Amino acid sequence: MADLCLSTRNVIVPLLLLSLISVSCAKVFFEERFDDGWENRWVKSDWKKDENMAGEWNYTSGKWNGDPNDKGIQTSEDYRFYAISAEFPEFSNKDKTLVFQFSVKHEQKLDCGGGYMKLLSGEVDQKKFGGDTPYSIMFGPDICGYSTKKVHAILNYNETNHLLKKDVPCETDQLSHVYTFILHPDATYNILIDNVEKKSGSLYSDWDLLPPKTIKDPEAKKPEDWDDKEYIPDPEDKKPEGYDDIPKEIPDVDAKKPEDWDDEEDGEWTAPTIPNPEYKGPWKPKKIKNPNYQGKWKAPMIDNPDFMDDPDLYVYPNLKYVGVELWQVKSGTLFDNVLICDDVEYAKKLAEETWGKNKDAEKAAFDEAEKKRVDEVNYKF
Ligand SMILES: *[C@@H]1O[C@H](CO)[C@@H](O)[C@H](O)[C@H]1NC(C)=O
Ligand SMILES: *[C@@H]1O[C@H](CO)[C@@H](O)[C@H](O)[C@H]1NC(C)=O
Repeated sequence: MADLCLSTRNVIVPLLLLSLISVSCAKVFFEERFDDGWENRWVKSDWKKDENMAGEWNYTSGKWNGDPNDKGIQTSEDYRFYAISAEFPEFSNKDKTLVFQFSVKHEQKLDCGGGYMKLLSGEVDQKKFGGDTPYSIMFGPDICGYSTKKVHAILNYNETNHLLKKDVPCETDQLSHVYTFILHPDATYNILIDNVEKKSGSLYSDWDLLPPKTIKDPEAKKPEDWDDKEYIPDPEDKKPEGYDDIPKEIPDVDAKKPEDWDDEEDGEWTAPTIPNPEYKGPWKPKKIKNPNYQGKWKAPMIDNPDFMDDPDLYVYPNLKYVGVELWQVKSGTLFDNVLICDDVEYAKKLAEETWGKNKDAEKAAFDEAEKKRVDEVNYKF
């Protein structure tokens, strides 16, 4: 755990200034840039190993990158499960901002697979970490087919996982992107991609963690005399004189008596009838807006007797691990720059110094790799 405060030791600082400085202290609970020694910090799980379904991680900067020395961990086998985690000193985010951030690059054209990470609490057997291991927060992109291209933000509350009810589209290209989840002590949150806010709101409204504060009064009944007819027949409208005399059908004036018609044998010839264009059906008064319209009846909202507020709704009292647990049909997802801290500005800066610094060079490298790939395809055919 690092305290990134300005050093105030041996300096005489007025008390007021000192308190200002302490406010700007970033507490970093975990930061992983995947430099040398990363393997001592991360534990590969044995999950799915006995079925030969556990995928290998590749320690690499990938096929295209902005800095070949800046490595991360990449899924390297198709149709495999992946589970890896790292431990940090246990902490609670009570009264603190929680920032959870990492970068992810799908070098494969990802058609179905996750790119999310998890925060876990309490004691976890990291060697057994897998799909069934309970987690506190799951956050990051998920892609499957055309329908699922979203950022997950699943919060565990009261031993139940709750999905974010808002739609947050994720990035779908083959470049690195930084995903940031921020949880504030006032129970609000922000989701950022590449340091740009994509969603913000409240834990109360955007997840169903607690029962709703208010509900429709189940006892309420629509009053007998409630007028919910928006339109009524115009009482002023009168049937025009002679309306009922208009016949439904009229003789076809264009019809001709056939040449071979024999009045004696066939009877007197009468023209066949056709529908009368003047005939408009039975008369109905026109409709007008009902001046007494009261709108659609709705039951009044009342306080939900089952609602109990939880001022610690946002609190995870013993966060202790960060992990990746994924199923991948096509491998090639590369994770890097994992950060758990309490300081939004620090996270922003880290994203700029890593992803931000390298993104243009990475894009150029990708464009070149793509051009080479297309050229090779064209050469073959
Ligand atoms: C690891 O990644 C590098 C860079 O993309 C690649 O050349 C190498 O073949 C990969 N190794 C494995 C075992 O997948
Ligand atoms: C927690 O879950 C239990 C069991 O589902 C339920 O009875 C209880 O009301 C829940 N508490 C809250 C605060 O949601």
